[in-house]
Amino acid sequence: MRDTWGRTIDYLRISLTDRCNLRCRYCMPSDVPSVGHDEILRYEEILEICNAAVSLGINRFKVTGGEPLVRKGALSFISKLTALPGVCDVTLTTNGQLLNKALPVLCQAGVSSINISLDTLSASQYANLTGGGKLDVVLSALRQALTRPVRIKVNAVLLEETVSQILPLAELARDWPLDVRFIELMPIGCGRQMKGVPVGEAFSRLKQVWPDLSPCRHHGNGPAVYYGSTSLTGHIGFIGANTHQFCHSCNRLRLTSTGVLKPCLCYEQGISVRDIIRSGLPDRQERLRQAVTRAIMAKPEQHQFSDASRITEHKTMNQIGG
Ligand code: GTP
Ligand code: 5AD
Ligand code: SF4
Repeated sequence: MRDTWGRTIDYLRISLTDRCNLRCRYCMPSDVPSVGHDEILRYEEILEICNAAVSLGINRFKVTGGEPLVRKGALSFISKLTALPGVCDVTLTTNGQLLNKALPVLCQAGVSSINISLDTLSASQYANLTGGGKLDVVLSALRQALTRPVRIKVNAVLLEETVSQILPLAELARDWPLDVRFIELMPIGCGRQMKGVPVGEAFSRLKQVWPDLSPCRHHGNGPAVYYGSTSLTGHIGFIGANTHQFCHSCNRLRLTSTGVLKPCLCYEQGISVRDIIRSGLPDRQERLRQAVTRAIMAKPEQHQFSDASRITEHKTMNQIGG
């Protein structure tokens, strides 16, 4: 389905939970009250929304969080989602702490791509940045994932305190068949209090090491642009949310764990579908379709990260799902 700006919207990011087993400083405050169980959509309810979305041409889905794998039953939900008629692509974004054990089911279900958040290869810095995360656990999951038939991408948010990690992280793509994506810190939630680095800075540093770094085919459903080099096994991606407006090619809606359809990351505005699903009305599929349509039509032309006063979203990233 097309929005009012002529963009085709065919992708939904589903946040399964706002909870997380880590506390990345740019994402989630250390002392948040979690949302109550009744407020969170049940899995069957999410699948009802996915059905309505599929009927409107949304056939690619991202499962995200918080950390999606901390929610009980996440793997069974993902298996049901990949099996839903009309669903073409299901991908997962995770911090990797619980990934190792989940890999067999994820691959069996047909998840096509797993994005693993990893901002530094220093164990002490990783623990400091994530509120106690174990680097060896993520790296071990990463190695295991590479033995499976699934695309692997590493997500690294560019922070002033981790600039020395740009090359070591990029070297993961030199040595392994995976993509390393450098992401600009967005001024959402806790991201407002930290200092980020533009993707151009990461690019210049890497271009000095690999002078033949040049644009290559786009892959994935997201806003990353990719570069290859004869020295690399995988690719380097850049998500320049602040310096490279990519809103003209936006293809997505978001569903929060509490059942709000969000037209854009940057605005508070959303359409709650929880009451529609829980109404018990026989025509609720049609009402859901109308709500998804309204959310698509409410998509703004672009985000307003350059003007803090126009960012109306005050939720933290773990509540939105990235
Ligand atoms: P794939 O490339 O298909 O794996 O999707 P993706 O890159 O969108 O997924 P992922 O969950 O790994 O998100 C990577 C980064 O992109 C995160 O920092 C997200 O917050 C950011 N991102 C995803 N969608 C949008 C968007 O619509 N707008 C902005 N500004 N950032 C986004
Ligand atoms: N800016 C950019 N990326 C962020 N993420 C979380 N918070 C921010 C932010 N403020 C990233 C995580 C994860 C993805 C879902 O979103 O690192 O990889
Ligand atoms: Fe958790 Fe991901 Fe947020 Fe880190 S970035 S606190 S891993 S949801």
